[in-house]
Amino acid sequence: MVSVAPIGVFDSGLGGISVVREMRLLMPSERIIYFGDSANAPYGTKTPQQVRELSFRIVKRFAQEQVKAIVIACNTATSAAVNDLRKMYDFPIVSMEPALKPACDRGNGKGQRIIVAATELTLRERKFSDLMRRFEDDNTIYRQPCPKLVEVVERGLIDDYDLVMATLHEYFDRYDLASVDSVVLGCTHFVFYRDYFKELLPQRTAIIDGNEGTARHLRNLLGTRNELAPSETKGSVILRNSDSSERMRELSQRMLDR
Ligand code: SIN
Repeated sequence: MVSVAPIGVFDSGLGGISVVREMRLLMPSERIIYFGDSANAPYGTKTPQQVRELSFRIVKRFAQEQVKAIVIACNTATSAAVNDLRKMYDFPIVSMEPALKPACDRGNGKGQRIIVAATELTLRERKFSDLMRRFEDDNTIYRQPCPKLVEVVERGLIDDYDLVMATLHEYFDRYDLASVDSVVLGCTHFVFYRDYFKELLPQRTAIIDGNEGTARHLRNLLGTRNELAPSETKGSVILRNSDSSERMRELSQRMLDR
């Protein structure tokens, strides 16, 4: 059996488009509907209850459109809402988490110095504390909130080299970067900064994100359920946003095509 039903993907704004790009590479036959909640971004400075309510509303819409799966392409919404959402719906809900395990695995699980860059809410929530607890005895892990990195993407300023580098220096100059083994990009917005991070960090420091792992997990899951789209189908992406302005439409397309 195969399924031509669409996959719903959402984020607080434009960041989740970086996950859609990865999904397109791995599953080019799938129909993807993306919803960016830019009118309510950022999520990372909201309360868990506010993020839960926004996420519930988005997933309810997707459910009405009979999606076969949801991807929460947002670490913050995952922290606040994924457990409840999984109890509410029967279709698979794939989510994000900061890729701390792959970062620790680089040192066979021991002695790694790792910075996790994410939103304030992601770093504060129980889900991340539970994850930290599995690795922090054997590794040195720093939590670094970077709210301005979300804002820069949402304002369409990701190509402003001076602004971006100044913002990165503001957050990362406090570390002895030469001794850092990995920086984990624990927010899908931050994946758009990969080239800037390469410039900021020593060559030996790995830059790790969870996008590919999430796309792979979704493909395996749909494969197990016999719900992948037929391979001869041409997939598509529909980009939607709670900010319905022309500027946001263009910006969303630009982030997909980057
Ligand atoms: C944010 O809206 O603050 C960013 C959401 C995320 O990807 O964690």
